[in-house]
Amino acid sequence: MYDYKNFWKIKIARALTALIKEADPNAENIDSLQIIAETPPDPSMGDIGFPMFSYAKILRKGPPQIAQLVAAKLQSSGNKDGAVEAQGPYVNVRLNRSLTAKAVLEEIFKTNQKGEFIFGKPGTLTGKKIMVEFSSPNTNKPLHLGHLRNDVLGESISRILAVCGAEVRKVCIINDRGIHICKSMLAYKDQGNGRTPQSEGIKSDRFVGDWYVCFNKALKIEVDELVQKGMEKEEAEAKAPLMERAQELLRKWEAGDSETVELWKIMNSWSIEGMKETYRRTGVSFDKYYFESNTYMLGKDEVLKGIEKGIFYRQEDGSVAVDLNAEKLDKKILLRSDGTSIYITQDFGTAISRHKDWPFDQMIYVVGSEQQYHFKVLFTLLDKLGYPWAKNLYHLSYGMVNLPEGKMKSREGTVVDADDLIDSLRDMALEEIREKEREEEVGNAQEVAEKIALGALHYFLLQPSPVKDMLFDPKESLSFTGNTGPYLQYMGARISSMLRKSKAPLIGKNADFSLLVSDTEWELVKTLAVYPSVIGEAAAALDPSCLASYLYELSRCFSRFYHECPVLNIDNTELSMARQELSRAVMLVLRDAFHLVCIPFLEVM
Ligand code: ARG
Repeated sequence: MYDYKNFWKIKIARALTALIKEADPNAENIDSLQIIAETPPDPSMGDIGFPMFSYAKILRKGPPQIAQLVAAKLQSSGNKDGAVEAQGPYVNVRLNRSLTAKAVLEEIFKTNQKGEFIFGKPGTLTGKKIMVEFSSPNTNKPLHLGHLRNDVLGESISRILAVCGAEVRKVCIINDRGIHICKSMLAYKDQGNGRTPQSEGIKSDRFVGDWYVCFNKALKIEVDELVQKGMEKEEAEAKAPLMERAQELLRKWEAGDSETVELWKIMNSWSIEGMKETYRRTGVSFDKYYFESNTYMLGKDEVLKGIEKGIFYRQEDGSVAVDLNAEKLDKKILLRSDGTSIYITQDFGTAISRHKDWPFDQMIYVVGSEQQYHFKVLFTLLDKLGYPWAKNLYHLSYGMVNLPEGKMKSREGTVVDADDLIDSLRDMALEEIREKEREEEVGNAQEVAEKIALGALHYFLLQPSPVKDMLFDPKESLSFTGNTGPYLQYMGARISSMLRKSKAPLIGKNADFSLLVSDTEWELVKTLAVYPSVIGEAAAALDPSCLASYLYELSRCFSRFYHECPVLNIDNTELSMARQELSRAVMLVLRDAFHLVCIPFLEVM
């Protein structure tokens, strides 16, 4: 792979080493010289700038003097790849545009034996087995806006890691048991009257979610009554008859009561089927689903073993707990006094069965930042229980997503449902297509609108770094101008359409890339060249936002080129061909990067 920055870093390092040795033949530690490469603030100063400040001490000279010496050394050895110049404390390199353009573009058009695009695959994680958990819904609620951020982060990070050579296994834990599940079951038992998603014509996960909302409404009435009678709110919430009945149902479920288990099976299958439909729609997939109902028993065993090992202890009321003062964490309950297991219990079982199924080198949990404490405790306890791989667990914590109108809430049923949101984005995109009278041109307008919606959504969600809370603005996300998914998609479609019009479609290699030397072409070539290092950066930081910014930069560079450099309508055929192939290279990189950030590529829009 042609990495011009690295190429010049090595040259600079060699020159510096030689200078140091000349000054002091016994100098030590010069093998590990840190070379920093910067981009000069003004393109007229060159393409890469190397600051000389950090070598002043070892060379006992001022940075400008060092820059002079390094530049002289490199000049004397003659470089066809670029011109070297000292400017103040910097050594600046002006690359040979023709040679670099040729090297970069030839690299982009290389394919593997199957004819697939291979540019940008850094291979830095080859041999690593990485498990990525994401989405992980509860079966009492349909997927919402928060899940959409989680899903695209998980899917995108998995794709990025895989492109770097890692073997990636995408997993999901379905939290399908516990008190919250019993709540929707109870409401359905009380008021369902045999209705089904089919009978009501409602998407099946939504149907289940509605019963959860229904439970919470009824519970609120009971709690309010108790509070009016003078009970404290917290006590009322625990003692409300509905709450006690839900607890009772959970005990029955854990005891395997057949009627309860039957209902649970039906409601869960509705819920999961509905969610899978949404995953298919958004292009998210998993290699394996884990179910809390399967792993929680293993988790319970683990807790009991922990008591034997003296790590956990039983409290007077029968519950099991652990004190984590020494770890600067609080006391944590691991099993309730009635023996039922809680959220963290299943996570022991889930992690253990995953490592058994597929011994990973690392497992990444993509889960909201409100669970930071939970994962700290989980990782600490798995370590205490003696699992060596507990050190390789990582919580990729991401922030909340809100809509401009305000916070999303699920209990009151005012949650921003994932399907509804995508529907409305799609409808807005469809309207835009109609307004622009492009229905005929685009072919299947519904399908194109759906892809624009996903592009808008995914790009918007991936743009900020994961840790940050964010505001999702549907209108802004769909804008065809500015830093949006549809803007990027539009660039891809524009190139596709241009290449369709081309009279002499070429296969990359045949063009004379050395003709691409104007400032705008050059900027585009340089931007293309850094694609592999951007992927590497995104993988190292587990942050697709680097790729998102890169895509915007590349699209803007292309747009400038497209305005300033005519491609098809010029007399110089050689130049026209080279520019067509440059455009094709941009399209290939866009297409490849779109896949990594889950943006559908469109040939027309
Ligand atoms: N289902 C949980 C929730 O909706 C998230 C599960 C996260 N993963 C885990 N292994 N605990 O809050």
